[in-house]
Amino acid sequence: MLVPYFDLKKQYSSLRDEIMEALDRACSNAAFILGEEVGEFEKEFAAYCEVKHCVALNSGTSALHLALLALGVTPGDEVITTPNTFIATAEAICYAGAKPVFVDIDPKTGNLDPALIEPAITERTRAILPVHLYGRPADMKPILEMARKHNLAVIEDACQAHGARYRGRRVGSIGHAAAFSFYPSKNLSAYGEGGALTTNDAGIAERARSLRNHGQSGPYTHERIGYNYRMEGFQGAVLRVKLKRLEQWNARRREIATLYRSLLQGAGVEIHPDDSRDERVYHLFVVYVERRDAVRTALEARGVHTAIHYPCPVHLQPAFAFLGYGPGSFPHAERACERVLSMPFFPEMADEQVRYAAEQLAEVVGAV
Ligand SMILES: Cc1ncc(COP(=O)(O)O)c(C=O)c1O
Repeated sequence: MLVPYFDLKKQYSSLRDEIMEALDRACSNAAFILGEEVGEFEKEFAAYCEVKHCVALNSGTSALHLALLALGVTPGDEVITTPNTFIATAEAICYAGAKPVFVDIDPKTGNLDPALIEPAITERTRAILPVHLYGRPADMKPILEMARKHNLAVIEDACQAHGARYRGRRVGSIGHAAAFSFYPSKNLSAYGEGGALTTNDAGIAERARSLRNHGQSGPYTHERIGYNYRMEGFQGAVLRVKLKRLEQWNARRREIATLYRSLLQGAGVEIHPDDSRDERVYHLFVVYVERRDAVRTALEARGVHTAIHYPCPVHLQPAFAFLGYGPGSFPHAERACERVLSMPFFPEMADEQVRYAAEQLAEVVGAV
């Protein structure tokens, strides 16, 4: 059997007619940049996230950048975040002229360890940027408490967590602002680049709206230097079709994760337990194994394709060498990156594929 790591083609075949109609609507209205489809998507996604405002953008990276700017992060500031994330989280902090300050993860969750935040706070700290990694909500309660105590902004990187709930609240509605990505592999994805900023604060939304469109406050009136971060009309049209299916896809992701868990019990792989107070959306299904690269090669030979998110923590990336961290700076994040393995995972996966992939993993882990 061949089990692909990811497959978007199956999803498209089930949506084709509706997508074609939606793209035709955007073409008929000649609304290619922002426009009605994007405006409607903003309302629908805000309602879905249980938040007052959504600003549709051209990527999750742009959403992080604008969230930082709209919250007043300026050159010389420091922003506390996790090294166990996609590089865009830390890049966006640099775009704002600020310095990423990493703290290690909790090895039981893979997310930023709230207990380590306070010692990292200095008089330059302006914000905390937790990531809901792999669709698992970061532990927001102690993060919000710390932020309140030290008067800091909280920006959620929800790029991998559309629809997740932390203690009943949707991610994206918990901090001062949040960033979502609609990159094609995400739980909710565009047919190209896409992103959104969500917030309950009208001022943040207004600044982000202006910044995404060259700092305009009205036609050809530019209040500030802005960016071209606008969402395309086609992407709004596609996202509206897909948003209606998101709950169903997330439910299927949870079902597949449950099946993997039960099949892998006693197989000698580590899987972080769920927190029953929260609702994860499983952007990825990751396991932690020793001799990960050998396991991966052996799985490949048996037709099971896997991926690694991420092979190197951000603080050890060459691009961030200037921050002066080295091996051993964040041992839990480093250890996670050495052992993490993303199993084949997408809502259209058949149970037999999950079973085959899990069986092969169990055999390979016992053998390498
Ligand atoms: C955690 C995280 N942050 C930020 C981003 C950046 O999103 P985008 O690729 O849409 O710019 C991504 C997506 O790749 C992500 O996974």
